[in-house]
Amino acid sequence: MERFVVTGGKRLFGEVSVSGAKNAAVAIIPAVVLCDEPCRIENIPNISDVTLIATILREMGADVRRVDRNTLDIDPRPINTYVATGEAVRGMRASYYLLGALLGRFHNAKVALPGGCNFGVRPIDQHLRGFQLMGAHNELINGAIIESTTEGSFHGARIYLDTVSVGSTMNIMLAAVKAEGQTIIENAAKEPHIVDLANFLNSMGANIRGAGTDVIKIRGVEYLHGVTYSIIPDQIEAGTYMAAAAATRGKITVRNITPKHLESISAKLREMGCEVEEYDEAVVVDATRRPLNRVNLKTMPHPGFPTDCQPQFVALLTTVKGTSIVNESVWDNRYQYVNELVRMGANISVEGRLAIVEGGALTAAPVKATDLRAGAAMIIAALVADGTTSISGINYIERGYSDVVTKFQALGADIKKIYYPDHSGVATTA
Ligand code: EPU
Repeated sequence: MERFVVTGGKRLFGEVSVSGAKNAAVAIIPAVVLCDEPCRIENIPNISDVTLIATILREMGADVRRVDRNTLDIDPRPINTYVATGEAVRGMRASYYLLGALLGRFHNAKVALPGGCNFGVRPIDQHLRGFQLMGAHNELINGAIIESTTEGSFHGARIYLDTVSVGSTMNIMLAAVKAEGQTIIENAAKEPHIVDLANFLNSMGANIRGAGTDVIKIRGVEYLHGVTYSIIPDQIEAGTYMAAAAATRGKITVRNITPKHLESISAKLREMGCEVEEYDEAVVVDATRRPLNRVNLKTMPHPGFPTDCQPQFVALLTTVKGTSIVNESVWDNRYQYVNELVRMGANISVEGRLAIVEGGALTAAPVKATDLRAGAAMIIAALVADGTTSISGINYIERGYSDVVTKFQALGADIKKIYYPDHSGVATTA
């Protein structure tokens, strides 16, 4: 079993460069299925979710070549199936984007229900309702596979989302890009990766307007040409390092970012007493100047505070004197990791969507990452805890954070990956 082993007590100083955005990459790579020519995608993060989605495309016949660590060449033309039901599909959440992409290309799709991080029920009813309004018939087969078929035309439609949903906004966008006529998505999500997907599709010749607002209009086109496209920086990875710098009372420069995407995170850190300076493509977080104070926070769809930074900020708030109240308004059940922080001595009680955090000291303990961002929260807690913490379940963390050990080491953290035990029964490091 692999673990991260972290010895706490070191402030983070120095610079970290943020990788391409996971939640943009996992939509843009399947979006290439819609293209009529090969594409080159740059600034791809080096994470296992990308490896999985590339494997899925290969299994469907695409020619996928890794040019270097962060660049993929994808020729989607050899894909000759609309069926994606293999193990890799069930291993990640974002495989649901294949439904929209395959419907857009073949007007049919048969895709296994997605896996991914578990924070209670993760319905896809809004995705399916959108496809249905566009002329598809959806069927759940054996509770495990969605088949969307069309007889006659697959066409644009006016779709009002009942809930602001990132996945359904992007999936309907994919399905609509080549559908006949105009699709209007109302109450659309506005996350930076939605704008990035629209920019990618438009660069290939799609006609999408309004991405980044709550009304997106897509007029179907017949042909999409090949492009070279670079993915935006990862807002959540940046927010994670910013929270870690604050938790350790350090000072770091986070490079290769878009400051506008970080506004809610920077504002919350400033409210706590950190200094946050913004540059064109960098942000400096300085938590060395004064004691930090408690804050309340509520997660919301963009441009609100992102739910994907909630666990990291709860870990940070355990280090701050006083009572902070966190309200998770996006997911029903995103506090499973709290028990792990409590094992480290954190004083947190959860009441429905609220977490009430009393600041205090943390002590090292064996803990596990219960999901991707929960794992990031464990690293942050371990960086400030007294003693050496071992974190299991790190496969979750590696799903979404590029080179996390080397990036934290470069900031001065005492963190390593341990393969435990090896065949001799002794822990080894890498
Ligand atoms: N929802 C529905 N019906 C649907 C879709 C969503 O009721 O058909 C509800 C969900 O239950 C949830 C809310 O709407 O309460 C928002 O869900 P959304 O569809 O926005 O989430 P998602 O697309 O499944 C993506 C990210 C998540 C991130 C959320 C919210 C990907 C692959 N995943 O999930 O990222 O938490 O948006 O911003 O893009 C992560 O990166 O750690 C992660 C979990």
